[in-house]
Amino acid sequence: MQFNNLLCEIDGPVAIVTIHRPKALNALNQETLEELLVCFQGLAENSLVRVVIITGSGEKAFVAGADISFMENLDVLTARKFALLGQKALSTIENLPQPVIAAVNGFALGGGCELALACDIRLASENAKFGQPEVNLGVLPGFGGTQRLPRLIGKGPAAELLFTGNMIDAAEAFRLGLANRIVPQDQLLPACREMAEKIASRGPVAVRLCKDAVNSGMEMDLARACQYEADHFALCFSSDEQKEGMRAFLEKRQPKFQG
Ligand code: CAA
Repeated sequence: MQFNNLLCEIDGPVAIVTIHRPKALNALNQETLEELLVCFQGLAENSLVRVVIITGSGEKAFVAGADISFMENLDVLTARKFALLGQKALSTIENLPQPVIAAVNGFALGGGCELALACDIRLASENAKFGQPEVNLGVLPGFGGTQRLPRLIGKGPAAELLFTGNMIDAAEAFRLGLANRIVPQDQLLPACREMAEKIASRGPVAVRLCKDAVNSGMEMDLARACQYEADHFALCFSSDEQKEGMRAFLEKRQPKFQG
């Protein structure tokens, strides 16, 4: 897949998507959001890809937000359209059948923080900075930040970040549960890749069903969500994967999952 603002490399079971707009610290304009949508729609259909890593180009920024020069002259209708496009792109990432790991390699601000929030797992480099500074620009987050941030870190800490526009470092993001782990910058992609390869070596159907159980279950009450989990658990017993996984354990060998 060829894009103007993205690189998408597929290496075995792992795809790495890099947002590449270095002059604007990888800020998300309309074209980049449209490309993200197309890219992730394509990855969803690629059964050879088992895990996706998303990162930003360069050593300074993951994504410094939605593109402010693009947004400056929007009117009410075009602003709404832009927010809905961003939300569609990020929902496609959140609901990708395969797990998505954000390699947060610098500033993850505004739409960049929202992009990281749409991923399943966030690994941060030591120089990463997170924040939702939209209120400094006279707007609020438009790509789902007011909804995903409180769901991830709780309402109080999310409200503080959203209402103050404060930027926090990787250590604070880790303390709040916004970053799963902090690693030195030169170790970030290797650490993401190691995690991706570990996930890719597990039963791919089980991993996909597990992701769906987590994401869909979070939006249900506990009783319904547990029922949903039981249905997914049962579904695994229709797959060769469950037979291979359990047989391998009993035969004291590593499983060989075909996917
Ligand atoms: N949009 C457009 N351009 C951006 C940008 C953005 N979000 N962030 C940075 N840039 C551009 C700068 O304008 C600058 O361009 P020029 O070289 O042409 O002047 C270039 O990237 C480098 O940036 P700085 O010179 O500002 O770099 P810095 O190291 O001094 O500061 C920064 C880095 C703290 C990230 C600062 O650039 C910054 O505050 N950026 C804006 C962050 C922001 O407010 N993001 C939220 C956007 S609103 C949003 O995302 C809404 C939504 O939810 C939909």
